[in-house]
Amino acid sequence: MNPQKDGNTYTGVRQCWRVRREQLERGEAKHTPVRVYRRRYLRWFDLAVGTFGRALRLAGLFERGRRNALAIVLNEITIEIGALPKAFDGFRLLQLSDLHVDGLPGLKDAICRLVAPIEADLCVFTGDYCEQVTAPLEHILPDIKAITAAISSRHGVLAILGNHDRAETVEAFEGLGIKFLVNETFSLEREGARLHLTGTDDVHYFYTDAARAALAAAPAGCKIALVHSAEFADVAAENGFHLYLAGHTHGGQVSLPGGMPIFTHMTRFRRYARGLWRHGQMTGYTSLGVGVSGLPVRFNTRGEVVLITLRAG
Ligand SMILES: [Fe+2]
Repeated sequence: MNPQKDGNTYTGVRQCWRVRREQLERGEAKHTPVRVYRRRYLRWFDLAVGTFGRALRLAGLFERGRRNALAIVLNEITIEIGALPKAFDGFRLLQLSDLHVDGLPGLKDAICRLVAPIEADLCVFTGDYCEQVTAPLEHILPDIKAITAAISSRHGVLAILGNHDRAETVEAFEGLGIKFLVNETFSLEREGARLHLTGTDDVHYFYTDAARAALAAAPAGCKIALVHSAEFADVAAENGFHLYLAGHTHGGQVSLPGGMPIFTHMTRFRRYARGLWRHGQMTGYTSLGVGVSGLPVRFNTRGEVVLITLRAG
């Protein structure tokens, strides 16, 4: 689909990005900030997931895992940022990550119920919207539309791409009124003060130097990075970001008792696989995700919608 032909407002930069992104999607390699891996998908991992699923069914635990996955919770946290302008003190940021809305029947309704009473200032979607990566994107759009309609957010919804998302997601979601950040910055202004949010393309499979350049180009001031995985934490911290919001890991999805993930699917900074963390002067939060992938089950983790209240330090 040609964005210009469809009257979309894509700039030349976006079109160049899209050509490169689609090239990477067609390839098998995994492009990360530090190296390129020859294979993106690990076949042994898929075999292990299939075997684990069969074992769960034999043990009669599959249904319990599915119920766990549907039992998503609202997690309210407060994060203090020294550089936050007073005008943004108390700003309520709603984060939904890793929706994978087609991966678990009933999840869309559970999300809508959970977010309906929340009054947020801004909502951010931090990537991974579908489970069936090769299915036509239209199969998830009604659910995304319903979830977006259930969200009350004064400044709307911002989104970034995850490693499960194809380039065409940007255009389709923007058609639903969701603003995408593709290596771009969005700034909010209150009483002359500004809060900057910079969103990059996924850096777990589809890293390019444009993601690094986007963080470097963010204006001075209070800055929040939106990146699908925490694997870019050092680059954001080096560029003076104060807060970094990620997802990607699902908190392990199937974890050891106590919540310790068995698999993080991270190539670096595995210690930032879940919850709050610090990297230098920057605070980070890695959401446990809302949905699930691989198997529609969770053990020793709960899917979450995160409501972050920002406080000026
Ligand atoms: Fe995910």
